[in-house]
Amino acid sequence: MPIKNINFTEKISIDEFFKTDNPGVFVESPGRINLIGEHTDYNHGFVMPTAIDKKIYFEIRKNDTPTACSIYSETFNYRLNFDLKIIEKSSSTWENYILGVINELQKRGKKLEGFDCYIKSELPIGAGISSSAALECGLAASLNKLFELNLSKQEIVNLSQAAENNFVGSQCGIMDQYASVMSKKDHLILLDCLSLEAEFIPANFKSCKILLINSKVSHSIADSEYNTRRKECESGLKIIQDQYEEVQTLRDVTLELLDSCKSQLSEKQYNRILYVLQENKRVLAATDLLKSSELHAFGKLMYQSHYGLRDLYEVSCKELDFLVEFSEEKDFIYGSRMMGGGFGGCTINLIEEAHIADFSAEVKVAYQKEFNIISEMITVVPGEGTLVKGGALVKRGK
Ligand code: GLA
Repeated sequence: MPIKNINFTEKISIDEFFKTDNPGVFVESPGRINLIGEHTDYNHGFVMPTAIDKKIYFEIRKNDTPTACSIYSETFNYRLNFDLKIIEKSSSTWENYILGVINELQKRGKKLEGFDCYIKSELPIGAGISSSAALECGLAASLNKLFELNLSKQEIVNLSQAAENNFVGSQCGIMDQYASVMSKKDHLILLDCLSLEAEFIPANFKSCKILLINSKVSHSIADSEYNTRRKECESGLKIIQDQYEEVQTLRDVTLELLDSCKSQLSEKQYNRILYVLQENKRVLAATDLLKSSELHAFGKLMYQSHYGLRDLYEVSCKELDFLVEFSEEKDFIYGSRMMGGGFGGCTINLIEEAHIADFSAEVKVAYQKEFNIISEMITVVPGEGTLVKGGALVKRGK
């Protein structure tokens, strides 16, 4: 059976969708935020993400066929039917997240049978809160439980990232998948993307909350520019390695060493790497500040991260800059920055809770006046990573 899209129009309820009473597996797979440490993961640096309380929900059952599978997204009203024997790249990115995961499982010799899966999502697409990692990791975790594949959490993270690299074509790092799977409620993760060592830091924001402002733009250059940034850093690193044999990753590069190679590097290569070195330092400094509850100083580092992303790494856009600049005038906002890959999506703001309602109304009006776009305010709390519940007696999730 070739891969076939059924349609976008016919709404299917859960009860209509499942054709068997086989026991279900229920999985909740969260989106993520990142407090600081952007574009550092694939450069073997540090990041500070966590899962959030907004998720994708999966219900999955065996369907008693050897290889026929069906996945239905209630959110998009979209159904994908495919055969496990014919897993090929699709022209649809959404399908490739799914097919990429199946492909990675099969590459690892994991035996699947026909299944049906019903998906609901609370995660906005293109908002930079990683609905894609939530989809990949949630599906991998669902299949892991349903077919008893014995994958560890780390393997789920790795194969989900590989699915995105190999099938979707985004050369993303490991941050999103790691945060979606490994997070602990009310904590942030200080993740060393070189060693994959993680420290869980209590998310003690005192009177502050995390407010995301969705710019509702998602510029089309985002994907290609992302891969270009990665290449610029890698080619810059290579030039440095030609001079300094002992350098293995950007983690071995100091500011002095970078400067000593300045004349061999293009301006872009120099600026990209300079940003990465500075951002890594900021993440470590931010960790100490969070531990000692110095939230104002922590917030200043968030602003500096934004300026670096805007001026040196060049992945911001006028809409995100506007939102960050608007927050700078408010003393009840300690920090604000673009979040995720860039060129659209959300800003992340550390804001005193008491001011969220008034500020949200004010920024919404100002943003609409400037760009004629209605932004969206999303308050999030650090949540638990992927949750898996199995068996016929488990009640349906949300
Ligand atoms: C995307 C990628 C991540 C990371 C961020 C930028 O979200 O999926 O791996 O590189 O961009 O920090």
